[in-house]
Amino acid sequence: MTRVPPPPPLTKPLHIFFSFFFIIAVEFLGKSSQQFLTSERTTLLGLKQRWSNPPSLRNWNASSSPCNWPGIICNANGSVIVLDLMSKGLTGPIPPFICDLRNLENLILTDNFLTGEFPRVLYNCSKLIEIEIAQNLFVGKLPDDIDRLSGLKFIDLGELVKWLNPVGDWKLI
Ligand SMILES: *[C@@H]1O[C@H](CO)[C@@H](O)[C@H](O)[C@H]1NC(C)=O
Ligand SMILES: *[C@@H]1O[C@H](CO)[C@@H](O)[C@H](O)[C@H]1NC(C)=O
Ligand SMILES: *[C@@H]1O[C@H](CO)[C@@H](O)[C@H](O)[C@H]1NC(C)=O
Repeated sequence: MTRVPPPPPLTKPLHIFFSFFFIIAVEFLGKSSQQFLTSERTTLLGLKQRWSNPPSLRNWNASSSPCNWPGIICNANGSVIVLDLMSKGLTGPIPPFICDLRNLENLILTDNFLTGEFPRVLYNCSKLIEIEIAQNLFVGKLPDDIDRLSGLKFIDLGELVKWLNPVGDWKLI
């Protein structure tokens, strides 16, 4: 006694409606992923140059949206929130203007050739919640005022022995 009910009369119009909506949504997402801040693209290209123009960043150029570059995630306003450049062959110090990325929350620079002392310039990146800079060429001691990174939830610095502090890996969670 199975009875297949006839399809409700609205099925077809609804289907058309949802296809239409889907196309609009895709269009909208496509546009929003293109949105970016010109000033932040300039900052990122500055970082690329300061880090010796590594071949791994060849897709970073002045004619594309940085929000589509490898290693970059932007928020809905097209502002950079994640910089994930692990093992990209970056060479040189972390320049202070990195904090011109005003909404930067996650900075991952593990396994590169970054130099200098502990990057106190990052104290100025007020939204940072994660810093990963293990496996680089930093020298010196961890600064006493490292707690000025007040919004931080996670930091990975690698071997403390390299920082002239006691032996061991140091992760703060
Ligand atoms: C710029 O980079 C994009 C990818 O990010 C690439 O598609 C485009 O060809 C590049 N343009 C130039 C002029 O190099
Ligand atoms: C985008 O910008 C608006 C206006 O400045 C702000 O209210 C909103 O919080 C921003 N959104 C994100 C995800 O930062
Ligand atoms: C922090 O950023 C502000 C605004 O960009 C700048 O005026 C100041 O010199 C920076 N401070 C440090 C320590 O980099």
